[in-house]
Formats: sequence, C-alpha cells, structure tokens
Amino acid sequence: MKIGSVNLPSPYAIAPMAGMTDTAFRRLVKRQGGCGLVVTEMVSAEGLVRGIDRTLEYAEYTEEERPVSIQIFGGDPEKMAAAAQIVEGMGADIVDVNMGCPVPKIAKHHAGCSLMREPSHAAGVIAAMTRAVKIPVTVKMRAGWNDDERNAPVLARMVEDAGAAAIAVHGRTAAQSYSGSADWSLVARIAEDLSIPVFGSGDCVEPEQIVSRMREGVEGVLVGRGVLRNPWILAQAGDLAAGRPARPVTLEDRGRFLLEYIELLGHERVRDERLSHDKWVVNKVRALGSWYTKGLDNGSHLRTAINSAPSLPALRAVVEQFFFAPAGVA
Ligand SMILES: Cc1cc2nc3c(=O)[nH]c(=O)nc-3n(C[C@H](O)[C@H](O)[C@H](O)COP(=O)(O)O)c2cc1C
Repeated sequence: MKIGSVNLPSPYAIAPMAGMTDTAFRRLVKRQGGCGLVVTEMVSAEGLVRGIDRTLEYAEYTEEERPVSIQIFGGDPEKMAAAAQIVEGMGADIVDVNMGCPVPKIAKHHAGCSLMREPSHAAGVIAAMTRAVKIPVTVKMRAGWNDDERNAPVLARMVEDAGAAAIAVHGRTAAQSYSGSADWSLVARIAEDLSIPVFGSGDCVEPEQIVSRMREGVEGVLVGRGVLRNPWILAQAGDLAAGRPARPVTLEDRGRFLLEYIELLGHERVRDERLSHDKWVVNKVRALGSWYTKGLDNGSHLRTAINSAPSLPALRAVVEQFFFAPAGVA
C-alpha cells in the first residue's frame, strides 16, 4: 500500500503515543517485523519553529525506522506549514497532523481535537501544509468532538479535498477520551467514501482483531495500546494474514525486549537537563511497564517491582529475575 508516493511494506502501523513511541521503542517494534509505518509522538509545531531542544528530541528517528511519519500539533496554518517544512527538512517520509488529542492543554490552543470543531479552519491548515511541502501530509482525527458533533465523515472529505494523502480515524470522540469502544462502523463508512487511504484505530489488542478490522474496508490499522502490551502484535497479524499461525512469544523474548529497550535508551541523547540519564531511562521503562505487564502472570508484581526499583542496575535485575529466573516471579 502507498501513502502518496511512499510505499508501506505492511498495512499495520504503530499509532503515535505521546510519552511511549520514542525512537528506541519504535526501532525495537520494527525489528520484530510486520510494521509498515511508525509515527512519532506528537511534536509541537510551535516548538519546531522556535527550535526548542526538547521538541526536536521528540521528532528524532533513525534510518531503520523508515518509512517514518512525524506527527505535529498546532492550529495556526502558517506555523503548521513552516513546521511541515522543518519536518521535510529533517528527512521524514510523511508529516501527520494531530486532530485527535483531547487534552485541554492542547485543545484550548485550537490544536488537537479542537480543530475538528472548526472544519474549514482545519482544512485550511492542511491546504497551507500541502502547498508548503512535497512529502505527503496526513491527518489523524477522532470520530468527533462529542456525541453531538460526530463530524469525522465531513471533515475527512474536507481534508481530502485540501490535499491530505491519507487519514487515520480513532473511532471515539474527544469527550469519550478512552472510555467505551471505538466505532469501527464509522471508520468503515469513511473508508468507503474517500479515495485516499483510510487507517482505522482503536481497541486492537489481539492480532486477530487487526486482521478482522482490515476486512471491514480500511486500508490499514494503527495499533496503539496493543503494541505497548505486545510489541509482536503487528508481526503476529502479518502471520495470520498470510495464513500462518501467529508466532509464539516466550517469557524470555519479552525479557529480552525490555533489556534491549534499556540498552537503546542508554545510548539516546537526552536533552532534558532536569534528570540524570539513568533516571530518565528508569522513568521510560516505568511508563512502558505499566502497559507491558498487563495480562502477564504475576504482572502486577512485576509492575510494582519496576516502579520501586531505586536505580537502573536494580531495574535491570528486576527484569532479569522476572523473565529469566526459572520461578519467573520477581
Ligand atoms: C499513552 C497514549 C498516548 C497517545 N498519544 C497520541 C498522540 O501523541 N497522537 C495521537 O494522534 N494519538 C495519540 N494517542 C491515541 C492513539 O494513537 C490511538 O489512536 C488510540 O490509543 C486508540 O488506539 P488503541 O486502542 O490501539 O490504543 C495516544 C494514546 C495513548 C494510549
């Protein structure tokens, strides 16, 4: 499948997740196979234009992650166009616009999901960006702002007309945040209506669900929390789609993944001077741990042990003991 002129080796992608889908995590997921596209955490257009160090850190990626989409947020058409040019200059394959974030800090600045409340303005943002760059501009939106404003089908059409090369729809409203379930029939209707590729997003936590959502007519699936729990889920979906059984994942595989994550984070350049590097790594592993331990036998013990490990060596020891010790209990 293609987004503009960018070829995706698989229709399954890692959804953008602030605080979670950093370059180290994306690389590791990509190495397991089955991942056709990675999207960065959302990056502030304002921060990019002003060259703020921490913003640039969120936009960093490595060659092995390609194709890479950098997601930006903002509401001012000129700034968004300028930010898109910076993203293009950084060598990204795609620039994605966040029209789904419900967090008030973002939404009150006419960015994130509040753009969905001003469809003409939102389409103007996309038109300004597509005029400014050659790389594909894509949009990620929700079903709408709330139940009275489920306008994704209308906005999707408008951003397609404004030049968007693909869209992704998380089938919940901003008011729902993460409650209830994603409305995939709405996503399917939009996919049917548009001629650009439409990705669906929401509630795929088993590889079988990814494969069955594809049958509803979307061109691709963005998987978020399912990847945080099971970084092999995209590869397993690929197995199922090819008629093979989903590859098994052992406890040791899961342990190795965490140790490799710690290793890669150790080599990252951290621009946040408020924390020591080790403390930054510990915090990142804790953040992943809160998802990664879900559904594991004794997962809550592991989560507690990760959260109370006082240092990086102690954290490593917790991981080694849990995943590699025969008893398997931390
Ligand atoms: C921790 C977290 C952070 C997220 N950050 C972003 C983000 O930066 N940009 C975005 O468009 N969506 C973000 N999302 C939404 C996801 O991309 C995805 O659409 C949503 O979680 C539904 O998919 P899922 O059920 O597979 O997780 C985030 C979700 C989570 C759980």
